[in-house]
Amino acid sequence: MDVDVVGRVLSTLPEDDDHPYRTGPWRPQATEWRADDLEVIGEIPADLDGVYLRNTENPVHPALERYHPFDGDGMVHVVGFRDGKAFYRNRFVRTDGFLAEAEAGRPLWAGIAERPAKSPREDGWGARGRMKDASSTDVVVHAGVALTSFYQCGDLYRLDPLTLETLGKADWGGAFPYACGVSAHTKVDPRTGELLFFNYGTDEPYMHYGVVGADDRLSHYVDIPLPGPRLPHDMAFTENYAILNDCPLFWEPELMARGLYAARFHPELPTRLGVIPRRGTSSQVRWFEADPTYVLHWVNAYEEGDEIVLDGFFQGDPEPKDTGDGGHYRRMFRFLALDRMQTRLHRWRLNLVTGRCREERLSDSITEFGVVNNAYGGLGYRYAYAATGVEGWFLFDGLVRHDLVTGGEERYRLPDGVYGSEPAMAPRVGSASEEDGYLVTLTTDMSEDRSECLIFDAARVADGPLARIRLPERISSGTHATWAAGDGIPGWREADSPVRALRL
Ligand SMILES: [Fe+2]
Repeated sequence: MDVDVVGRVLSTLPEDDDHPYRTGPWRPQATEWRADDLEVIGEIPADLDGVYLRNTENPVHPALERYHPFDGDGMVHVVGFRDGKAFYRNRFVRTDGFLAEAEAGRPLWAGIAERPAKSPREDGWGARGRMKDASSTDVVVHAGVALTSFYQCGDLYRLDPLTLETLGKADWGGAFPYACGVSAHTKVDPRTGELLFFNYGTDEPYMHYGVVGADDRLSHYVDIPLPGPRLPHDMAFTENYAILNDCPLFWEPELMARGLYAARFHPELPTRLGVIPRRGTSSQVRWFEADPTYVLHWVNAYEEGDEIVLDGFFQGDPEPKDTGDGGHYRRMFRFLALDRMQTRLHRWRLNLVTGRCREERLSDSITEFGVVNNAYGGLGYRYAYAATGVEGWFLFDGLVRHDLVTGGEERYRLPDGVYGSEPAMAPRVGSASEEDGYLVTLTTDMSEDRSECLIFDAARVADGPLARIRLPERISSGTHATWAAGDGIPGWREADSPVRALRL
């Protein structure tokens, strides 16, 4: 292994930190690495060609009072594969907030679990306002550039998908919706090259929907009026429609009036699913009512006859009660535990003729963070790959492949003390079918104090990894990930190898 340290940030976190989302498997890193020709146990398939990118909440400074893991600074990890070899890089996302705090040497914005009024800085980002633009939630690749996003709307940061150098903010020809930003999850349609997005906020109309073309220019942006401020996290799309949502879990209006932002579930209200033509107007949104729940992540959607089929994770208990079990932190962060929220794969069928919604549970298993072969995004599909959670905590202990035709599940359980991250499905070069490819994830191994990148045959997840690739340092547990094929990355083919490309 050929390893260099390329950067090191000055962390001001306490030596005796006891916060469970800043220690153990969530211990943040301060070092940025460049590692080539990584040690491999097993064999990297020669037809795995591209990059796995994963974002991470990786705090550099303590919170003002109460740290929430979604507050952490964005750090992206990339593992690239070509010709049976792998390279690795990790870099902080150099957001405006990150740079300002680096200069100050201390936190300047209140986090999610703190009052905005506590922020030393009066400016900031987020639907709520006065937050740091952590850019630590999702990462996608659009128009050959990696984009990182913030949990609660903000700028999208552009990163070189190979070097992870921060290239600035998405601007879309000067048309970026700066006032509202962009929500955590955008969708890239591989067939059109479009990026679909939405945002939300505390001012009317409370939501917007937009489309960015393959040319990286904003081509569509419309108001989506809602009854009040909402907290949608994700969206879905089909060939002809985008699907937005208004779930009955939102900031309590009376508390908001006092500067407090606490989300409450309203089981007396329906979940509303908004279907809009991909280039539709505000008046063309059709709302469908469904059973009350909160959906953090959708898996996929497609059109079938008169219906739109929408799959995602239904939460049986979007606002789990404090049962008094466990310590302070476990109780405080019960909203992050999949078992407490009872997240199950679910299907909504939205009939465009009758205006009715039919629902069905697709699995009894508690899973979340589902992904598909992105070539099937918006199209009929069969397989969803998801993570299983550690009881009581925001940690993943295994992978599941859901077969949505048979209802079958194939599982791989990580060894004790080893935690995974959201997988990505990487179609093999020349892939001939939906499951013809690999599943890639990163691990945090507390037993061996190291991290690895695991590669599975996507059709045989239960067989365990085909290859395990050693990273130079144990990385923090993290959030969302994506796969980008090498032929979608500018410059990928010009170099003899990723190693040489990165040493220019
Ligand atoms: Fe998310």
